[in-house]
Amino acid sequence: MSNLYQRHCTRLFDFSDIEIKKIINLAADLKKIKSKKREIGYLKNKKIALIFEKESTRTRCAFEVAAFDQHANVTYLGPGSTHLGYKESLQDTAEILSSLYDGIQYRGGKHENIMILSKYSKVPVWNGLTDRFHPTQLLSDLLTMQELSTEKNLKRKKIVYIGDAQNNIANTILEASVLTNFNLSIIAPKEYWPEKKIFNCCQSIAKEKKIKIECTDSISDGIKNADFIYTDVWISMGESKETWENKIKILLPYQVNKKLIELSNNKNIEVLHCLPAMHNKETVMGEMLLKKLGLKNGLEITKEIFQTYRKTIFRQAENRIHTIKALMIATLLKESTYKK
Ligand code: CP
Ligand code: NVA
Repeated sequence: MSNLYQRHCTRLFDFSDIEIKKIINLAADLKKIKSKKREIGYLKNKKIALIFEKESTRTRCAFEVAAFDQHANVTYLGPGSTHLGYKESLQDTAEILSSLYDGIQYRGGKHENIMILSKYSKVPVWNGLTDRFHPTQLLSDLLTMQELSTEKNLKRKKIVYIGDAQNNIANTILEASVLTNFNLSIIAPKEYWPEKKIFNCCQSIAKEKKIKIECTDSISDGIKNADFIYTDVWISMGESKETWENKIKILLPYQVNKKLIELSNNKNIEVLHCLPAMHNKETVMGEMLLKKLGLKNGLEITKEIFQTYRKTIFRQAENRIHTIKALMIATLLKESTYKK
């Protein structure tokens, strides 16, 4: 039985495979409805709090636009704009905000923070990114990959995640693999292999479900027969500056570039990136890092490859709206009110 009403989303594993499928299918329906300009204000009179302790473009805007489309109201609580953490505890904040709002989005540092918020909140709490997980991003990526796959499901597809395999995207893609049955090959230098606990847990579930999850530092082994290549920034938000240079040097051979694409031997390969991407010098951080390291052509992805797959990457970003909308509707309303 699946009942998403009033559920938290701190990570994808909060849901079953059937529930993830339900959210993705609802998102696909909502996307069609929006394109036909037939949006129904299911979330009328709902009030949403958006807590951001870190910066955001896509997640914040997707939550806001999804809420506006559905006639809900939002309050943006940006970094340093509330008492949270400095003068007021997570528990007290959760109790206060959940007596005022119908749902709370949280983006912050430690994953434990969202666990405390969700424990003391009387309303659904959604994770908009923590150091360990980014579930709303993967919901969007799953919808994107489903749209790009002729079979309309990801069974037997092979997704390669390459780069920093210890970050929030890597952990979440591991959970996504066993929830939606795609084969996952993680390619990373040994220093950045996934956290053992989550990797072993997902790998043992994968074995039972007869899907393959592997991790290798060999690009040529891992890339074979890939349908999708997914990468993320090498420097995540909040990482200490002292580690940047050394980390980039270790990860450089794992850049998504022309040679890597050719090694996949798949002319129809798709490249995914959750964004923001360090593919050029047109940002303060990009210019500083590329100059310092004497690099000309991007960090985790080259300018050329980013341009080639830009349409898919920007589709992922747009799909954030539809999937976040589906998540809010599914957790804030009883199913009978939106599924007629
Ligand atoms: N992908 C993503 O979460 O983007 P933002 O940091 O802009 O929200
Ligand atoms: N791993 C990245 C994801 C950004 C969406 C970060 O945490 O900064």
